[in-house]
Amino acid sequence: MSDIEYDNLFKELETLEREYPEYKLPDSPTVKVGSTGAKKFAQIKHKVRLYSLDNTYSYDDLALWYERLKKNYSLDNDPKLVCELKIDGLAISLTYKDSEFSFGATRGDGITGENITNNLRTIKAIPQKLPEKLAELEVRGEVFMPKSSFDRLNQLQRENNGKLFANPRNAAAGSLRQLDAQITKSRDLSMFAYYGRLDSNEQNIDSHSKMLEFLSSQGFNVNPEYKVCNNIQEAINYCKYWDKKRQQLDYATDGVVIKIDSFILQNELGFTSRAPRWATAFKFPPEEMSTIVEDIEINVGRSGAVTPVARLDPVYISGSTVQRATLHNFDEIKRLNINIGDRVLIKKAAEIIPKVICVTQHATDKKSSFVKPEYCPSCGTKLVEQEGEVNLYCPNHLGCPSQIKGRIEYWVSKDCMDIDGVGDSIVAQLVDRGMVTTPADLYRLTVDDFLKLDLIAEKSAQNLYDEISSSKNPTLARFINSLGIRHVGKETSELLARRFLSLENLKNASFEEIQKIDGIGDKIALSILDFFSNSFNNELLQNLKLYGVIPQEMQVNEGSDKFKGLTFVITGTLSDTRDVFADIIKQNGGKVSSSVSKKTSYVLAGDNPGSKLTKAESLGVKIINENEFNQLIGE
Ligand code: IVH
Repeated sequence: MSDIEYDNLFKELETLEREYPEYKLPDSPTVKVGSTGAKKFAQIKHKVRLYSLDNTYSYDDLALWYERLKKNYSLDNDPKLVCELKIDGLAISLTYKDSEFSFGATRGDGITGENITNNLRTIKAIPQKLPEKLAELEVRGEVFMPKSSFDRLNQLQRENNGKLFANPRNAAAGSLRQLDAQITKSRDLSMFAYYGRLDSNEQNIDSHSKMLEFLSSQGFNVNPEYKVCNNIQEAINYCKYWDKKRQQLDYATDGVVIKIDSFILQNELGFTSRAPRWATAFKFPPEEMSTIVEDIEINVGRSGAVTPVARLDPVYISGSTVQRATLHNFDEIKRLNINIGDRVLIKKAAEIIPKVICVTQHATDKKSSFVKPEYCPSCGTKLVEQEGEVNLYCPNHLGCPSQIKGRIEYWVSKDCMDIDGVGDSIVAQLVDRGMVTTPADLYRLTVDDFLKLDLIAEKSAQNLYDEISSSKNPTLARFINSLGIRHVGKETSELLARRFLSLENLKNASFEEIQKIDGIGDKIALSILDFFSNSFNNELLQNLKLYGVIPQEMQVNEGSDKFKGLTFVITGTLSDTRDVFADIIKQNGGKVSSSVSKKTSYVLAGDNPGSKLTKAESLGVKIINENEFNQLIGE
């Protein structure tokens, strides 16, 4: 179940219990906080209860919460608030006695937790000793695993055929509740502290923000993004800001905790049966939701790769409705043990295609069950397996309508030729009516041709024609990217354009020349050679040229003889590949050598230059950096 589904059920239960108090159970989740799960550690009773937090997904509710506090407690001025990111990890409590870490526990049900002191001692962000003399200090916070460490851990688990963790939170929980502290130590866990309680307050800490500063001074990791706000509007702005930005953080956050800053006011407000009145949580729109798999469809991509896609009962996730989620390949179907009718958890992270995380409930009445296809659903050709790859392929590259559509859709897309207006439905019509079979055909179409399509009026037909015509002189990098060469994406296309300057040069390039480019390996080089040796592709290139689709040649510096008689050695990491600098030197009449000798005129050194630099120094050869090099050409 996703968070929002739990929260909605929880709120429904609260309403029902208010209406029918006779049915309220003594151990209702509205009374008790969380649960401890399986017991394998000793229990510790918390000295002061760990409360939960009320939460909301609505800004209006936040404003209401604040207004109600002000009204109920007759506050004339806006009380100050502290906004903190709500870290999606595990709540823990640490107790320090005489400035030494004495014991630590999980939250458990808020009253009793588990003693996990030994495991907590392995976490670097938790200080063992405090700099200041303190009789007793309790610190609470959230233990979490950074997203990058989570990815690495799952990679490792995959390599060792271990169990994969569904998200960083589960990974942190699994790592913390290990009986063997060595395992905990091997996992990269960290902690943010968000609460402190001193037995005697000699420090005169009278607000939450001062407490955070104090915790920081004692060596605790306090999340640096917290903010003191003067009113609820500032707090709402903070929530809006982080809803957009949270993807960029290396830790998972599921909302913002908003706390009244003043301790005097906090004490006055107190607690309800399960949560403080002086704090509340705003939860970000969920990235995970559960829904039903209505069907498993087969998608045939532009390269012929066949991938299963789950068609879903539409769900609203972080700002948009999701109807499909990729299942990647047929092994993934087995791994997830997923079938039509199952309830699944769907995740949508920014700019990533929605994905199925796991099955939460298998279908009880199986109406139909998924079978791996044998024939291409688009053209009926028998599918083939390719060595070393988990995917199935449709080998009918030239005739398969799905592949043709895929190639045209890719050709017009943003990072390729960027032809506005030619959407998927227009591409589908053009291909289904046999008007287009390759990207070159687009440039043969007339305004009248577009008028034949469904729902296209005079004006949009003209617009489509104009858009296509005006795309005829793309940059070389865009053009290379649009060709859809296997393994060649936007970045690689840019490297190729910069190195070869024209399409002709790229076509004539040798394996060695391509493979020598920094960032391009054997696999890509082979794929490029393969592409240009294919007669279908050559016909496409010829036709494109015929219809006037000609990429711009890259600007080459006018040659000079500035470097005539000079020999350069290039070493270390520069702002571009060494080949690019070698080309500039050669264009200006200079020579490039791979080893330093007395005859070397200059060593152009980037970062981490290594032994060539040492040799240059010992021979007294002049060493220049990139700036000085640029000045030399500029002179
Ligand atoms: S304050 C009485 N601050 O959210 C105040 N909690 O339901 C209670 N959490 O599991 C907690 N980040 O561990 C607070 N900056 C933060 C937090 C935070 C995450 C967790 C907390 C608990 C849940 C509250």
